[in-house]
Amino acid sequence: MGLWRRLGAHRLPAMFLTQRRTPPEYFDALDRPLNELQAAYRQLGRVNRCFKFSHPFVWVLPRWLGRERCRRLEFLDLGAGDGLLGRILGRWAHQRGWDWQFTNLDINPRALALNPNGRNVVGSVLALPFEEGCFDVVIASQMTHHLNTEVEVVQHFREAWRVTREAVLLSDVHRNAGLMGLVWLGTLLLGCSRPLRADALVSVQRAFRVAEWKSLAHQAGLADARVWLYAGTRLMLQARKPAPTLSR
Ligand SMILES: C[S@@+](CC[C@H](N)C(=O)[O-])C[C@H]1O[C@@H](n2cnc3c(N)ncnc32)[C@H](O)[C@@H]1O
Repeated sequence: MGLWRRLGAHRLPAMFLTQRRTPPEYFDALDRPLNELQAAYRQLGRVNRCFKFSHPFVWVLPRWLGRERCRRLEFLDLGAGDGLLGRILGRWAHQRGWDWQFTNLDINPRALALNPNGRNVVGSVLALPFEEGCFDVVIASQMTHHLNTEVEVVQHFREAWRVTREAVLLSDVHRNAGLMGLVWLGTLLLGCSRPLRADALVSVQRAFRVAEWKSLAHQAGLADARVWLYAGTRLMLQARKPAPTLSR
């Protein structure tokens, strides 16, 4: 036991992030000053573009739903923040002659206010203020790790599934030491503020792994959800409802 501790081996689980930890994130408090939040979202946007956060969506959706189905889609973006993902995806679709419309949902009205021209709804992913099957596709990026407990994650998956008529596609950071190093370096080189850098590192500690999301998706009733690792850095969950059968 003494040698184990002296070698520092008791720290290995923390170093390799085998267990999820949930220290609070600075920008999760809803009363951060607007100018601070604005700067943080500008910097997060730079990090997101650099890490190509929209790529998993443009890679998966046409291959999964088919190009024809992608011509017109109505999305709900959960934890949309300043709505950058919707703006990027909307432009990308427009360049292909497709029409993708986004509703941005976030618990933080100040974050949504950074996107004054968006279709914004203040609300929690745990109790979505929408009827069943309101959207073609429900997406989320870097949101799920903000939830504190597994019970909340199951509820979030359940709610996403309830309000989609067709598909759910979620993306989040993956909990691994390699990504932790990459985020440390990336946020330093991109000149992010101290609190944003700290939040980015906490995000990786709060994140999940494939087996964990698979089990939670199963508990939420998304038995056929595919959970996979994208580029060694992102956790993806995709689930599709069966096409409605036409009654005679
Ligand atoms: C890291 S930001 C991600 C923003 C954007 N989706 C992206 O990929 O850059 C996480 C967002 O989730 C929001 N959020 C956290 N908990 C939430 C909840 N329970 N319901 C709705 N939004 C939540 C936060 O307010 C924040 O805007």
